[in-house]
Amino acid sequence: MNIGVLGAGQLGRMLALAGYPLGNRFTFLDTTGNPSAGIGDVMVDTDQQHLTEFLSKVDLVTYEFEHLPVPLVQAIEEHKPVHPSSEAIRVCQNRAEEKALFDRLAIPTPAYRLVESAEALEAAVRELGTPVVAKSVTDGYDGKGQAVIKDPANAAEAWRSINHPRLIVEAFVDFVREVSIIAVRGRDGQVVFYPMAENLHVDGILRYSLAPMPDLDAAVQQTADEYIRALLDELDYVGVLTLELFQARDGSLLANEMAPRVHNSGHWTMDGAVTSQFENHLRAIQGLPLGDTAARMPSCMVNVIGQEGEPARLLEIEDAHLHRYGKGERPGRKLAHVNLMAPTHEALVEKVRACAALLPGAPAPRFSFE
Ligand SMILES: Nc1ncnc2c1ncn2[C@@H]1O[C@H](COP(=O)(O)OP(=O)(O)OP(=O)(O)O)[C@@H](O)[C@H]1O
Ligand SMILES: [Mg+2]
Repeated sequence: MNIGVLGAGQLGRMLALAGYPLGNRFTFLDTTGNPSAGIGDVMVDTDQQHLTEFLSKVDLVTYEFEHLPVPLVQAIEEHKPVHPSSEAIRVCQNRAEEKALFDRLAIPTPAYRLVESAEALEAAVRELGTPVVAKSVTDGYDGKGQAVIKDPANAAEAWRSINHPRLIVEAFVDFVREVSIIAVRGRDGQVVFYPMAENLHVDGILRYSLAPMPDLDAAVQQTADEYIRALLDELDYVGVLTLELFQARDGSLLANEMAPRVHNSGHWTMDGAVTSQFENHLRAIQGLPLGDTAARMPSCMVNVIGQEGEPARLLEIEDAHLHRYGKGERPGRKLAHVNLMAPTHEALVEKVRACAALLPGAPAPRFSFE
């Protein structure tokens, strides 16, 4: 089966790496002019002239990037199966749509308002109370297109800096930790769930994901499973879906956002789970049985950002697995990740610290359970 992938970055690369053992071939369609997958058949299509050729090569289509024009994905759906569907993209690429769906399914979220002017933004900040986070409703990633507002008097400045016609304003959540749940739904409606991960972000960028969490109440995992199952079923979804959540002091969960694809907070599954998120995504979209999502051991993913450091030193750490993306160094750019495993969380955290010490500019890891 030849799988067409919209987007040609590291997520597509890792999909291909997981798909070759299954006998899959991959054709990537890159619309940015800057593909980094470095694997498979990469078609660069900056002027939308090569879609017909792409479609003639592939049996089914998936994507590694949800900020795609919905009409383009709908047009592709006329010719080839697309999983997850264009409807999933339409909802997940727009924070207003996403929050409306969470509301409809009774999945709790931070209090929010939608605004279309600096004046409305200021009014929303007064209503919600400071601090708030203002975010563009579309096009955001890695914390871009966002501003934290601590005083209503700064609303106009935030409006100008984000420079987008429509914003969502959210109450700033005083969370104990950020977590995510990744689940996979097959073509037959079967759903499997990965153990939730604790995610450490610095300046809006994910740095560490650890799973399973040593102190996670089984009831909390079950609640997250229920939330994501409701989303999967509502969207008649096929493939991997990720839901990012905030966990409050009382253990309760608030949904932040979702991504209709394999996710950085699931990279630990490449070495730490029985079946990786990439393999399970490919199994799901091809109608194959889904694989076991259990963690083999406490695992942590460490992102390598901006500078690669010395890969050989990283590999001196026992049971460290380095996954490089073949991209050039640039501040803030995700270049690789290291997966670490250990029999106990204590030993794992020690390895994570040793790994962080070898990465230029890596923030010191501090997990909620320490
Ligand atoms: N309402 C909020 N309260 C507290 N912190 C928040 C809130 N919204 C966002 N943040 C912080 O900012 C980070 C990035 O926000 P969000 O996930 O919405 O943006 P993003 O740009 O889509 O990120 P990514 O695509 O990398 O997941 C969150 O992981 C969290 O650390
Ligand atoms: Mg996020």
